Amino acid sequence: MKKFLGGLFLLLAVGMMTACSTSGTSQKSIQNKGKIIIATESEFAPFEFKTLIDGKDTLVGADIDLAKAIAKELDVKADFSVMSFNNVLASVTSGKSDIAIAGISVTDERKKAYEFSDAYYEAENVVILKKADLATYTSLESLAGKFVGAQKGSIQENIAKDQLPSSSLVSLTSNGEMINELKNNQLQAVVLEKAIAEGYISQNPDLAIAGRPLKSTDTDTYAVAFAKGTDKKLIASVNKVIKKAKQSGEFDAWIEKASTYTQSSSESK
Ligand code: ARG
Repeated sequence: MKKFLGGLFLLLAVGMMTACSTSGTSQKSIQNKGKIIIATESEFAPFEFKTLIDGKDTLVGADIDLAKAIAKELDVKADFSVMSFNNVLASVTSGKSDIAIAGISVTDERKKAYEFSDAYYEAENVVILKKADLATYTSLESLAGKFVGAQKGSIQENIAKDQLPSSSLVSLTSNGEMINELKNNQLQAVVLEKAIAEGYISQNPDLAIAGRPLKSTDTDTYAVAFAKGTDKKLIASVNKVIKKAKQSGEFDAWIEKASTYTQSSSESK
C-alpha cells in the first residue's frame, strides 16, 4: 500500500511538472485552432487605436499590422482581444491570449515573468505639459508637489516615480482620460513615449512637449510578449516576421500609415 501511494505521488508530481513546463502557447495549438488571440489595448496611436473606417470603429496601427503579419505567417486568423493596458500581460499568463502586442517595453523586471521577442521599436520618454505652462515648468524640480499622470501598469509610472519623486503620481487606465485631465488642469504633466505624445499634441494644439527634462537613460524598446513556457518555434516565427518588417521598411510604413488616421473621438482626442 505504502509503495502504491508513493508511486502515485511520484506520478502526480511528474504530471504537475509536465503541466507547468507546457504552460504558454505553442505554434501547433494556434494552428490547430486556426487563430491567434492577441492581447492589446486601444488608446496608443500610432501603435494601436481605433479610427472610423466607413463609419465603423476599427482597430488600426503599427502593432495591429504587425499582429496581422504574424497571423499571416502562421496561416491563421488574427483575433484581437482589447483590454486595459494593465491587463495585457496578465492575459498571456492566464492563457486567455496567445501573445501580447501593445507597445510593451522590455524590462529586466518583466523578463523574469515573460518571454519577449526581438525588439521592433525604440521609444523615448517625454513629459508633456499645457503649452501655457511651458515657461512655468522648466525642470523636473519645478513639478514638485504637482500632479503628474502616467498610464496604469506602464513603465512610465516607474519613470515618474524615479525622476519626479517630489510630484504626486496619478495612475490612470486610459491615456485619453489622462490627456483630458491635463487639459482641464487636474494634472500638470503627463509622462508618455514620444510618438504617443506627438499624436496627442497634433490633435490638441494646447499641449506641448516639455523641453527634454527627463534623463537620457529613458529609451526603451518594444517587443511582443509571451507567457513563460511558450514554445520556441512560435517565438522564432514572430522574430522572423519582425526581422522582415524592420528590414524591408514595412514597419516604418505601418507607422506612417497610422499617422494618417484620426483616433476615434469616443476615446478622447
Ligand atoms: N511602453 C510602455 C510599457 O510597456 C507603455 C505601453 C502602453 N501601451 C498601450 N497600448 N497603452 O509600459
